[in-house]
Amino acid sequence: LIPIAKPKISDEEIRAVTDVLKSGMLAQGKIVEKLEQEFASYIGVNYAIATNSGTSALHTALAAVGITKGDEILTTDFSFVASATCALMQNAKPVFCDIDPTTYNISPEDIEKKITKKTKAILPVHLYGQSCDMDTITDLARDHDVWVVEDACQAHGAEYRGKKVGAIGDVGVFSFYPTKNMTTGEGGIVITDDEKIAERARMFRSHGQSKQYVHEFLGFNYRMTNIAAAIGLAQLEHLDEGNKRRQENAAFLLDSLRGVEGITCPSVDPKGVHVFHQFTIRIEDEFPLSRDELCNHLKEKGVGFGIHYPTPIHKQPLFEKLGYTDDTVDCPIAAEMSKRVLSLPVHPQVTADDLRFIVQTIHNVVREELWMSA
Ligand SMILES: Cc1ncc(COP(=O)(O)O)c(C=O)c1O
Repeated sequence: LIPIAKPKISDEEIRAVTDVLKSGMLAQGKIVEKLEQEFASYIGVNYAIATNSGTSALHTALAAVGITKGDEILTTDFSFVASATCALMQNAKPVFCDIDPTTYNISPEDIEKKITKKTKAILPVHLYGQSCDMDTITDLARDHDVWVVEDACQAHGAEYRGKKVGAIGDVGVFSFYPTKNMTTGEGGIVITDDEKIAERARMFRSHGQSKQYVHEFLGFNYRMTNIAAAIGLAQLEHLDEGNKRRQENAAFLLDSLRGVEGITCPSVDPKGVHVFHQFTIRIEDEFPLSRDELCNHLKEKGVGFGIHYPTPIHKQPLFEKLGYTDDTVDCPIAAEMSKRVLSLPVHPQVTADDLRFIVQTIHNVVREELWMSA
């Protein structure tokens, strides 16, 4: 089987974790601090606050900019559910925007349509490892005086106009889940250049604590362990190398699949650097098989795949129960794409042989299907 994701764990990670275990300092400490410093310096910001997941990092970021009950947060309808539930965690209201059909990222035109006096933040998600249209988004945010909280959970090292994503808005968030471009097992991080946001994030992560036994506001235990941070430090060393492999793998897949009728390949915005967290194609009506049929064939042949995402967020039972409907949300492109997208393995551990096998598997099934229907 060629898996859709596989973290690369080498002797370096094993040695680093063993050292932490032997030290006895397991919880948040010096190693977490080191990861924060190195990640901040990698992205090019002043502050980083490590957490125990990307989700807790999103919650922390919204709390740190002061999002509260009744505030509206503009987010995308086409992402992992946490890009919207983080608003609910602060008793705020996620308002869903539709996507651009070429990048699958949040549509600035739809942001402009849906922004109101209640909007307090825009939460762009750099989906699949490619930056959103940040020029337009930051202009809109400035005009309407709202925060920009970047969900860069899938985009470690991605760039927009020479700047790393996460560092473009007021605050940025990354996930270190094992499928991501770098991992800590479970983990996440908040980054910012704003000292006050950093301070509030640090307190929120630890029960709103300003000093021992003094709690200023409601916070949580969202701390990362030294064990996780040790994995992260080793992973960060190899992030650029892994991203380069992803880009090379993506270039091969683009070259080999571009000519197949009915497959739309990912498009790369020349303003940025795409780090290909996912390589996501679209199955059009002209393709001789349905997406389900193609998935079954890939499964049979041992090619891993993913559907990112099969359901627009507002259609999740959780949001239907809150009263969200197609009529009130109005994100037709997200709905359409959820029926068509299909992610193929692109991660650094996919070999040249694997890539040829993936491409051949698709070419062969197309040929068989066309031959049978002729
Ligand atoms: C876009 C996006 N946002 C948020 C998250 C949440 O991160 P985590 O799973 O680390 O909580 C993820 C990853 O799962 C993600 O892909």
